[in-house]
Amino acid sequence: MLQHNKSTILVTGGAGYIGSHTIIELLQQTDYNIVSIDNFSNSSADTFDRIEAITRKQVVNLNVDICNLEALELAVSKVKNPIGIIHFAAYKSVPQSVADPLMYYHNNLGSLINILKLCKQLQIPNFIFSSSCSVYGNVEELPVTESTPFAPAESPYAQTKQMGEDIVKNFTTSESSFKSVLLRYFNPVGAHPTGLNGEYPRSKPDNLVPYITQTAAGILSKLTVFGGDYDTRDGSCIRDYIHVSDIADAHVKALNYLIDDQQKQATSVFNLGTGNGVSVLEAIHSFEKMTQQKLNYEVGGRRAGDVISIYANNDLVKKELNWNPKYNLDEMMLSAWKWQLNLGLNK
Ligand code: NAD
Ligand code: WQD
Repeated sequence: MLQHNKSTILVTGGAGYIGSHTIIELLQQTDYNIVSIDNFSNSSADTFDRIEAITRKQVVNLNVDICNLEALELAVSKVKNPIGIIHFAAYKSVPQSVADPLMYYHNNLGSLINILKLCKQLQIPNFIFSSSCSVYGNVEELPVTESTPFAPAESPYAQTKQMGEDIVKNFTTSESSFKSVLLRYFNPVGAHPTGLNGEYPRSKPDNLVPYITQTAAGILSKLTVFGGDYDTRDGSCIRDYIHVSDIADAHVKALNYLIDDQQKQATSVFNLGTGNGVSVLEAIHSFEKMTQQKLNYEVGGRRAGDVISIYANNDLVKKELNWNPKYNLDEMMLSAWKWQLNLGLNK
């Protein structure tokens, strides 16, 4: 294990779904001091109790809105020797971004610009940005590689990620000692294998896996499969589901790659997916098999804006970061169910 005792890694959005799993991996795999920055706009302070239950370590959180530069600078001025930032903090709901685009441009781009200003002021040289497969839009070519050209963004949310990538790249080019990694997540799902940490539902979920677990838990009455007449092997849409702990592990590897100066260019871009396309019906059947739960679902109409099929070519990240996803679909579903059992049933 590398020794970087006195160095701090700042994790924005550390109380959120992917940020919290990444903090767990950082605490377990490295010796960095970890400081989170999160205003709990889509999470709560309980996340840090869950992180402590798994790692036996306490994490300091700076409760500031990253869009408030003055408050951000004041809070971070007390942090000793920050050498890297992993920037998760953003809003992430596609339908909400369509309903309120300004909220998304303000928060996702405003927070990113402030974080980069902080990097410049404090000379923090290593930066990882949470991007998304939504940057690709409706692609013609499958699987998508990092050089697949972007189609137009399908939502203001996706637009903030396309623009965010450009902002990071332009800033990196302008700062000779600054290096960055853009990680494009496909469909992060599941929970920590202990079942002690997972995605905390604040309202009715839009995403498939929390919808499945809440239906099985009796919180929601029925799951609708959005479309059964697509030109796919069983008529339902295809996605690349990837376990959240595998995503988290990739961040540790990307951080070491930056800090150990293995990067060949100023900004690296990696797809984070398993490379396997899985249909909605296959995901449901995996859940039913692993949990022995009969899911109440019906095949219904298509959802507006859905891409028919998307999955990653992950050759580059495997080669450059020596990353290999450990969890298969069955394990993703089982961990999601363990977390749901921890949250509670309504039966
Ligand atoms: P999340 O909502 O669970 O976590 C984001 C965290 O950021 C929350 O805890 C929230 O309170 C915090 N936050 C948001 N705006 C803030 C601000 N202005 N100041 C301080 N804190 C703020 O989301 P997540 O699923 O963990 O996603 C993390 C990142 O990954 C996001 O950038 C998201 O766009 C990206 N991403 C997520 C997915 C996914 O399916 N979950 C897929 C691709 C990309
Ligand atoms: C997955 C599949 C649905 C719910 C979104 C964002 C993307 C990224 C990940 C952040 C689709 C089907 C879903 C349901 C269903 N996030 N489904 N019934 O749309 O692939 O991607 O989250 O960056 O940017 O767009 O994820 O989980 O909503 O849907 O049949 O009740 O499940 O049609 O095929 P999606 P999802």
